[in-house]
Amino acid sequence: MSAQPEFDDHLLSLTLARVAEEAAIACHGMIGRGDEKAADQAAVNAMRAQLDLLDIAGVVVIGEGERDEAPMLYIGEEVGTGKGPGVDIALDPLEGTTLTAKAMPNALTLISMAPRGTMLHAPDVYMDKLAIGPGYPADVVSLDMSPAERVRALANAKNVKPEEITVCILERPRHEEMIAEVRSIGAAIHLITDGDVAAVMHCAEAQTTGIDMYMGSGGAPEGVLAAGTLKCLGGQIWGKLLFRNDDERARAAKAGITDMDRVYARDDMVQADVIFAATGVTKGSLLDGLQIKGGAMETDTLLLRSKTGESRRVISRHPGR
Ligand code: FBP
Repeated sequence: MSAQPEFDDHLLSLTLARVAEEAAIACHGMIGRGDEKAADQAAVNAMRAQLDLLDIAGVVVIGEGERDEAPMLYIGEEVGTGKGPGVDIALDPLEGTTLTAKAMPNALTLISMAPRGTMLHAPDVYMDKLAIGPGYPADVVSLDMSPAERVRALANAKNVKPEEITVCILERPRHEEMIAEVRSIGAAIHLITDGDVAAVMHCAEAQTTGIDMYMGSGGAPEGVLAAGTLKCLGGQIWGKLLFRNDDERARAAKAGITDMDRVYARDDMVQADVIFAATGVTKGSLLDGLQIKGGAMETDTLLLRSKTGESRRVISRHPGR
């Protein structure tokens, strides 16, 4: 029996661009059509078709949901030709289904890959998240701190006043108290309606984005994807799974989680080198959206590679699409 080929992140990283691009292109006709499900399905179909062309023995660890609720790209699904290296795949074929349906900014297609067995199998539950950019001491902020304490600790480490810190938070009723507390000490809040993976990524480039910290609860799958991006860009993220009922606890147990109260740091969620690709569906703060130019569809894709810290913007033209 021949040994399994190694995870060649160098080669696979460029291949990943096409997977993200095709998922985005498939969503083009769905922008602004008010149909979230159809938009997501278009992205799923295209991503799955592209993945099956790759010489990988891939397993979806972060996907569209459990096998019984997602016919395609479900957790545990095997993708690829089966001939290449064993890889874990985390994906969100359309991050921002509502954004796409409403033609709002910041909808993206997302995918990342790492050697088999190195990514957290996060169940489809909520996760309490906290993220900051690079250059700070380890654990300078923590999920145990109150929102105000986090702002003060970060301001202290940055040597600025709390008023000079900007926190990004998802605008949801469940975050009202958090928002009020952060405002009460004078920090600014950048509210988003959806898309917390990009929000976490913005912490890695605070000088350009103006966002110093991300906090609040959102999807656990998005938490793992976000951890992968910070492994490439630099920065710290912590996540704790949140369970609303026994069914959600059972999902976690099924995913192999034994300690339901564990706080996962970035490298607990993504334990080895990872590659990541995102393509813009609608124009956003991270990437341009799909554009038709001179009879071709133009896509804007970000490729990240943790081993080297490389980040690459790929503008591609797809004639006749
Ligand atoms: P979808 O596009 O998959 O719907 O996710 C968008 C998103 O905003 C995520 O970025 C975020 O983690 C999650 O939804 C928040 O969930 P909720 O809308 O339930 O607060």
